[in-house]
Amino acid sequence: MTVTGTAAGRKFWGVLRLLPVLWCWVFPADFLIVEMEGKNQTVLLNGNVTISCKVPGSTPLNTDITGVIWYLKHQAHGTEHVVFEMYGNHQKAFRHGASVSLAGLEKGDFSLHLPGVQLRDAGEYRCKVVVTPEQAQETVFLNVLASPECTLFREQAKVKDDGNKYILCKARGFYPENIIIIWYTWTQENPQGQEISEGITTGPAIKNEDGTFNITSRLRLEHIVTTCQCVISHISLPTSCRLNFTQFQRGQDGG
Ligand SMILES: *[C@@H]1O[C@H](CO)[C@@H](O)[C@H](O)[C@H]1NC(C)=O
Ligand SMILES: *[C@@H]1O[C@H](CO)[C@@H](O)[C@H](O)[C@H]1NC(C)=O
Ligand SMILES: *[C@@H]1O[C@H](CO)[C@@H](O)[C@H](O)[C@H]1NC(C)=O
Repeated sequence: MTVTGTAAGRKFWGVLRLLPVLWCWVFPADFLIVEMEGKNQTVLLNGNVTISCKVPGSTPLNTDITGVIWYLKHQAHGTEHVVFEMYGNHQKAFRHGASVSLAGLEKGDFSLHLPGVQLRDAGEYRCKVVVTPEQAQETVFLNVLASPECTLFREQAKVKDDGNKYILCKARGFYPENIIIIWYTWTQENPQGQEISEGITTGPAIKNEDGTFNITSRLRLEHIVTTCQCVISHISLPTSCRLNFTQFQRGQDGG
């Protein structure tokens, strides 16, 4: 009597036939792996960025059965949509200029290139790679920053004035909104320089059409101030903006 003839045997072969199904259920498509560089990436407004997404390994991929879809979940409204897709002979960019190198695809490089990055490009990017019948995906968060343009100038004299003179320190076109503006002064009493705590009016930040912000800080000039400095610190700046203002002194020291 053969094994297949028994009830136990039928059960054995039945389980064996189920194995591939069970296998897929326990290890769903987990042989394909994609790697991204970290969980966060930062780019400056209007810059170009390449978001890395690679399948490690040295064997070339069969491009006939390979595809990639890039999704973006917007930072602002949380909705997800396709940015770019490529499979077979088909490729389509849903964001102007988005691209994945066809040459890179075979080598397992699915990195997404975005030129001229805007604030609306910020959010969570998902790279979904399919090498039929397997698939894998990873996500990375893209932060977009904008550096302030810093300027310092004397406020134009107005007809109706409070008799004081002001200097203005202005940061424009920055993102995100958080920014720190501090004033320092150098006087005869404080030749080392010290932070100014009075006579300062700052903000609020005003939003521009492109989503960036402007802010102005006004310092009331006192006659004892000889040199002052406005320091603007922002996450996008490797070193703070430091702008000096030196007041012309008319024959002081004796009146
Ligand atoms: C972005 O790339 C384009 C070409 O695609 C180039 O002309 C431009 O200078 C680049 N911009 C920056 C900020 O690197
Ligand atoms: C921001 O500053 C720039 C340059 O001073 C100016 O052209 C622009 O109108 C300002 N934006 C707002 C919203 O005031
Ligand atoms: C600003 O003034 C201070 C005090 O006189 C000086 O130490 C500093 O070098 C000046 N910075 C610039 C950028 O001129």
